[in-house]
Amino acid sequence: MAKEKSIKEIEDLPGVGPTIAEKLKAAGYDTLDKVGVASPHELSELVGMSVETAKKAVDAAKQATTLEFSTGAAIYEERMAIGKIGTNCKELDELLGGGVEAKAITEAYGKFASGKTQLGFQLTVNAQLPVEKGGLGGSVLFIDTEGTFRPERIEQIAKAAGLDPKEILANVFVVRATTTEQQILAIEKADKLIKEHNIKLIVVDSLMSLFRSEYLGRGALGERQQKLNAHIHKLQQLADNHNLAVYLTNQVMDNPGILFGDPTTPVGGNIVAHAATTRLYLRKSKEDKRIVRLVDSPNMPEGEAVMKITTNGIRE
Ligand code: GTP
Ligand code: MG
Repeated sequence: MAKEKSIKEIEDLPGVGPTIAEKLKAAGYDTLDKVGVASPHELSELVGMSVETAKKAVDAAKQATTLEFSTGAAIYEERMAIGKIGTNCKELDELLGGGVEAKAITEAYGKFASGKTQLGFQLTVNAQLPVEKGGLGGSVLFIDTEGTFRPERIEQIAKAAGLDPKEILANVFVVRATTTEQQILAIEKADKLIKEHNIKLIVVDSLMSLFRSEYLGRGALGERQQKLNAHIHKLQQLADNHNLAVYLTNQVMDNPGILFGDPTTPVGGNIVAHAATTRLYLRKSKEDKRIVRLVDSPNMPEGEAVMKITTNGIRE
């Protein structure tokens, strides 16, 4: 009699050999957790095993998965240790509870010239500061989908902060994406770069422009949202796994359904709305002033801050 072996991978499940394991993984059942909550009938149909065998595999997977419990106090400790990138605008930092948070997605949406890209540039410099100076002490991956990345601006902002612009620019890895495939791949393949260069901030400027221009018409919307969902999911995964911050900029449209008040709405629908941990709405005020509204945050009250766009970067 074969001894019971401990189940660590899908291949270890009873009745599941390498071939069936491959089929399961290809069908999306790539973890014991997923197999553990699967229906035996579905698995049986998917990979051509008997329902009885599938049931045994599901039961074994359920047994093998372990759920870890954490106390509220432990999570509180963990949250206090999450890094934040300062924006150079005290009011905005306070609105954000300290700055743009690591392990989370922060989205800035607003009309043209509202300051989304400029804030991204400031974060690109500040992320490189040591933790005690309001940074995350790492480098930056900048996905530029609109062709608006300007090293000259990074240079100005770095100089104004008393930093060596050459060094700062050497730690910004820029991908100029002109198709959604390139945008998606840049993130899919980012793990290696992140590890090798200690990336602590990913900027996607902007998230939706290519998706909007490539997927036109109602018929394409479903496919677009599916691709977008996977893309954002991967961004969140990178943020969690590598303890880094994600800053997305987003375009807006006028929502005709809003009869009173400001009809400006971020594009991308529910998928983007749910994925962004924190949403900021930027709008122009007088001259170089911009009003930043915190629209959605899991732990901070809604509110507004005023920031300035100057040649030296973001200021009070
Ligand atoms: P779109 O990408 O067009 O949707 O806009 P955006 O929200 O990304 O705008 P962006 O962040 O590029 O902000 C543009 C604003 O920043 C403009 O009003 C510029 O005048 C201002 N700006 C850009 N560079 C400088 C600069 O060197 N000095 C100053 N004072 N302002 C600047
Ligand atoms: Mg821009």
